[in-house]
Amino acid sequence: MHKTDIPSGAHFHERLASRWHQGYASGGFRRRLDFIESRLAPLVGPGSRWLDAGCGAGTLTQTLARLGAQGEAVDGSPAMIAAARQMGGDCSSGPFQFRVVHTVESLPYPDESFDGVLCSSVLEYLERPGAALSEFARVLRPGGRLLLTAARTGSAVRTVQVVVRRVAALAGRNAFEYLTVSRHTCGPGGLRRAVEAAAMRVDAIEPFDPVMPPWLQSVLPSSLLAVTATRPA
Ligand SMILES: C[S@@+](CC[C@H](N)C(=O)[O-])C[C@H]1O[C@@H](n2cnc3c(N)ncnc32)[C@H](O)[C@@H]1O
Repeated sequence: MHKTDIPSGAHFHERLASRWHQGYASGGFRRRLDFIESRLAPLVGPGSRWLDAGCGAGTLTQTLARLGAQGEAVDGSPAMIAAARQMGGDCSSGPFQFRVVHTVESLPYPDESFDGVLCSSVLEYLERPGAALSEFARVLRPGGRLLLTAARTGSAVRTVQVVVRRVAALAGRNAFEYLTVSRHTCGPGGLRRAVEAAAMRVDAIEPFDPVMPPWLQSVLPSSLLAVTATRPA
């Protein structure tokens, strides 16, 4: 695949791939991992077939595997998939197959292929998030579950980052560069409508912030929203 064929959100992550997994060792990434694992645990049955859509270096794919799932993990960044394969060992014998896709807005799987779809912090990078949600609904079997996290509109942390980015630019510095490719944010209502427009039933929408202390999260808008949804039977 030529670099120019790679969507901007995936292209941005290419150079982060070799360090992505180790970022989960501590801090906000670790707290995000623990939160997602706690929400996945009741959804993942032993031997169930899951898709990790936008899997990055496969850290959450490993969590799915530890919970007893098997299936597929895809990403638009070849470097991320290479890192995931390296970390996961021989992917042909592991519970998950890792695959480069052009975009999760168009998935190379037949209808009703999976019991569950995980999509963590990917939606905000897509050109057409609605198309990705429709694809997740299509590849889920009736009764299948979706766990997705998305960037929240009005997030206190993101608002500070935007201001810091503008001030840093005056000094010729490129702070929080991810903001150039993280193009979508949503509120709880917008996220609910988007998931429902893709013909899925929303079971829960929860705020979560891996950076702010918990007491501040009850006062200020969180960075993330996590939605759990079901494809109706
Ligand atoms: C913030 S990272 C999250 C990775 C992983 N889900 C996690 O939580 O560790 C976003 C990921 O989305 C991928 N991505 C961005 N746009 C994409 C697209 N259009 N199709 C597939 N993957 C994409 C990036 O390559 C990157 O690995």
